[in-house]
Amino acid sequence: QNDESQGAGSASAPITVVGSANQDYLLRVEASPSPGETVLAHGMRKNPGGKGANQAVAAARLGGDVRFVGCVGDDDDGALLLRELRAEGVGTSDVEIITREHTGLAIVAVDTTGENSIVVVPGANFALTESRVTRVVRRDAAGGVVVLQAEVQPRIIAGAVAAADDAGARVVLNLAPFVALAADVVAACDPLVVNESEASAMTGLPVSTLDDAHAAAGELLGRARSVVITLGARGAVWADGDGTGHVPAPALDRVVDTTGAGDAFVGALAVRLSEGAALEDAVELGVRAGTYSVAREGAQSSYAMAADLRHAEA
Ligand code: ADP
Ligand code: NA
Repeated sequence: QNDESQGAGSASAPITVVGSANQDYLLRVEASPSPGETVLAHGMRKNPGGKGANQAVAAARLGGDVRFVGCVGDDDDGALLLRELRAEGVGTSDVEIITREHTGLAIVAVDTTGENSIVVVPGANFALTESRVTRVVRRDAAGGVVVLQAEVQPRIIAGAVAAADDAGARVVLNLAPFVALAADVVAACDPLVVNESEASAMTGLPVSTLDDAHAAAGELLGRARSVVITLGARGAVWADGDGTGHVPAPALDRVVDTTGAGDAFVGALAVRLSEGAALEDAVELGVRAGTYSVAREGAQSSYAMAADLRHAEA
């Protein structure tokens, strides 16, 4: 059943986020352990996470009409994640509860500089089926935006891309973490969104300077319809058929927690694209949403509402 009342209900086109939902176990450490090393954490907090759920929440907070397609386990973590998504206005009627698997989880160690190291256990996220994704995308995504990441199996990404093509939906693929995908899947991305290390893994080129990022974006534009490379404190570089550009990030006094910054970026980008904006405008909102999130603790808990970013527009 198609419960439209669950979306934020703006005039924008639907945003269908296909991906992971995880319970994040956030550990505060002095420095993340090197191989063979053991460190003590200052404390542990459970936070809702997973790139798919994060991007869905980021988009819903900024006014997107968002539906999430994924799987959780039949356990307390799964029930909590679903409640939290609904409370954010994300449609969850197409989330499957998997009885034989635990809800996905991530161990996130954040050091004193705000950098994080992460181990993800996919659990129920890997039980997502192509038939579910295809059915929902064909039914609901027409004229809208389908948002994908790589914490689900590559064949799910490929199936979602094919269904988006059938439905006439725009594909935003955040290839995080990096996995090798078929050329025709990458070719459908509009945009392909990667960070510096993912861009480097895809191109075999170093991506550390702004010039490197422009070169990598140019190379990736030969494979995808459009490309965005996020650059942490330096914002993002974009390239599409109309041109290319760099959007710098606003300067921050203090970086608190970079967890999920890329997801804040992608959710915001998807909202602007669902409103019919040009890629450059969508990247501008993405950068501001990403930077807003790194100045605050947590992933979803740090994401901006539309009003939080509006005052920065003045
Ligand atoms: P990921 O988390 O996927 O590695 P990035 O680190 O590139 O993604 O961050 C995504 C976005 O978040 C950036 O484009 C930028 O807007 C913002 N951001 C990340 N780190 C910082 C930082 N240190 N200062 C300001 N903005 C940041
Ligand atoms: Na944050």
